[in-house]
Amino acid sequence: MDMLVVQGGCTLRGDVYVDGAKNAALPIMAASILLAGDVRIKRVPDLVDVQTMSLLLQSLGAKVTRSEGSLDIDTRDVASQHADYELVRRMRASVCVLGPLIARFGRASVSLPGGCNIGHRPIDLHLKGLAALGADLRIERGYVIAEASQLRGADVFLGGPGGSTVTGTCNVMTAACLAKGRTIIRAAASEPEVADLGRFLNDAGARISGLGTSTVEITGVEGLTSVTHTVIPDRIEAATFAIAAAATRGEISIHDVRPGQMTSVIEALRAIGVAIHVTDDRIDISASGPLRSVELAALPFPGIPTDTQAQFMALLATVAGISVVTDRVFPDRFMHASELVRMGAAVRREGASVVIDGGGRLTGTSVMASDLRASAALVIAALAADGESQIRRIYHLDRGYARLEQKLNGLGADVFRRPDVATSTKRPHYLQEDSIGNKESEVHLD
Ligand code: EPZ
Repeated sequence: MDMLVVQGGCTLRGDVYVDGAKNAALPIMAASILLAGDVRIKRVPDLVDVQTMSLLLQSLGAKVTRSEGSLDIDTRDVASQHADYELVRRMRASVCVLGPLIARFGRASVSLPGGCNIGHRPIDLHLKGLAALGADLRIERGYVIAEASQLRGADVFLGGPGGSTVTGTCNVMTAACLAKGRTIIRAAASEPEVADLGRFLNDAGARISGLGTSTVEITGVEGLTSVTHTVIPDRIEAATFAIAAAATRGEISIHDVRPGQMTSVIEALRAIGVAIHVTDDRIDISASGPLRSVELAALPFPGIPTDTQAQFMALLATVAGISVVTDRVFPDRFMHASELVRMGAAVRREGASVVIDGGGRLTGTSVMASDLRASAALVIAALAADGESQIRRIYHLDRGYARLEQKLNGLGADVFRRPDVATSTKRPHYLQEDSIGNKESEVHLD
């Protein structure tokens, strides 16, 4: 296992270029099952999650090859409809193969994802939507077993207690492309990544309207054709760099982004006192002035993304005053708070929120990552802290950020990766458990 060693007290300065969006690439890869043809996806980030989705597609019989930043996927020979637990437990987005498999083959057996460090993550809305299209679904021994002779269009409400469902909308929208008749998804997720999937499907011959809104309409077609698609920029990666620049009081330019998809993050940073200038594909950040404490709530799009909540918490720990962070999407997504406390942050849980008494100096130390975005928050705190930090279990980070240390060092940071001898297999088994009691080999990923 690797760790990141971060020298604190740096000020990020310079230019950084973001990759394609992980959360668009993954459902688009899964939807390629529907096409039974040649799919080229450009600007696919080189991430562990993309490798996992590639392995899953290959386990079903697809051919997946990477050349430069593109993936070529041929799903003509997909013969299996079984998504095994061993792969699904590594990445919840594996559930996105459920809809395409049912739509193309009329059957599927997909493992339930299992536990997750960012909170309760059911898939009941996925199943509700697919059942509305006519699929017979049952849970057997930890697997969703689905059968459907012919999917038929339906009018389905996909809202839940945490708002809309991103991958649930992806699953139902994709399956509805081959259903007979018209489907209306109400309370659909309007995230840009869902809209990007819809554009991919339309370019392959689907008939989807309402993308980017909470009401999406799909008119079923006979089949889809080969397609080439370029994935949208990763707004969460871009937000992570913007927040890191603010936490280190730096000045950076973030390139190849779509600021229009990041309005809530930009407005939150401006409320904190960060100077931000945007063009059509770049965001200039300057945090040289005084910063202010704020109250933030993570919400479904277009609200502040829950995937930036941890990063904002790390920033607010460096800002004098009382800030409050609430996550309306994943109310328990605060595993990073206790690690920030170990770095000297004054953070306490108050019901569904966390109260931060910011402005004290953070000090570098050894901390443990618990999930993808918590890892990013710990990197941000370590960059701003006094002294050196060691961030362990960074396999979480590698799932969603490509070459993060190179990009940060290109902005003047001093971050390097090295083996974490403390978590080598030589340690007694009882010392190899993670912070919530899972053994190394059984850690579930978000
Ligand atoms: C997607 O997860 C993202 N992952 C997550 O990003 C992101 O945090 C999340 O959307 C919210 O934006 C991918 O796109 C691969 P949801 P997803 O279904 O689809 C509840 C990252 O860091 N819900 O939109 O699994 C759920 O409990 C990852 O990149 C139900 O109640 O999230 C939550 O409260 C982490 N029933 C809310 O809806 C369901 O059937 C939103 O969940 C499904 C969800």
